[in-house]
Amino acid sequence: MNKDFLALNQFTKAELDGMLALTGELKAKQKSGVEHHLLKGKSVALIFEKSSTRTRVSFEVGVYQLGGQPLFISSATSQMGRGEPIKDTARTIARYCDGVMIRTYGQDIVEEFAAYSKAPIINGLTDKFHPCQIMADIFTVMEHKGDYAGLKFAWVGDGNNMANTWIEAAAIFGFELRLACPKGYEPDAGVLAWAKEKGAKLLLTDNPNEAVTGADVINTDVWASMGQEAEQKEREKAFAGYCLDETLVELAASDAIVLHCLPAHRGEEISESVIEGSHSVVWDEAENRLHVQKAIMATLIK
Ligand code: CP
Ligand code: NVA
Repeated sequence: MNKDFLALNQFTKAELDGMLALTGELKAKQKSGVEHHLLKGKSVALIFEKSSTRTRVSFEVGVYQLGGQPLFISSATSQMGRGEPIKDTARTIARYCDGVMIRTYGQDIVEEFAAYSKAPIINGLTDKFHPCQIMADIFTVMEHKGDYAGLKFAWVGDGNNMANTWIEAAAIFGFELRLACPKGYEPDAGVLAWAKEKGAKLLLTDNPNEAVTGADVINTDVWASMGQEAEQKEREKAFAGYCLDETLVELAASDAIVLHCLPAHRGEEISESVIEGSHSVVWDEAENRLHVQKAIMATLIK
């Protein structure tokens, strides 16, 4: 098994399925109050170079529930924010901690951290990937649909870190994924090429109706991700017609579920009625971050 959890492409389907199965076991234990101290005596650093609500809270609580010690580290108040090299930070933290989660900008930063750290590194979101989120999303699909196999997945919106990770997931898990992204906002070309090479069942269109028609799972995300705030106005123009509203959801399967990693901008990428409506499973999805990340940590941190 790979030491780090930087991207889904580092793992086989069997390995990821194993983490999803463990997620179910740990969730059941947590719900029934059965102790599961798989990280007893372990310390896990949680480094944030970007804002977070779900990732921070679910990792802190998750490490605690596993019997370990979480350490929240903001880059702004550590020496990272004053320019200490990543490789020096990585080697130092690995002398104290048994695992590290990082939320940052470039994928190269988590890769460099991992190269210099003896401790496993978990990607808590980069500009390129958000693998913990997509694992939680797939677990949520399994809870609501029984299995992910044979389902049609749709992505509506920006070709961002979430879309890139869904593309890798489609290639590894083998489900069909249709992505609707405006021209100029397509997913990472290298990720698309990798997935096509793997034989992924992908359709890329700029027509949201085409992506959503008949879909079992619909997913969207903000139009301007963290770090892109200055592009908000031009993105609002480019993404006109991409709001996941009731008219769009009606084209999907009648029992389709709607995912959103949150935070959501109601009236932009998703309507109030859809996120609060009967298809939405976003609160289960948010909760499942906790359970899936516990399984990822328990699998990798020894
Ligand atoms: N979905 C997600 O990663 O949320 P936060 O930005 O609040 O961590
Ligand atoms: N694409 C969003 C996801 C937030 C969880 C961002 O990167 O800001």
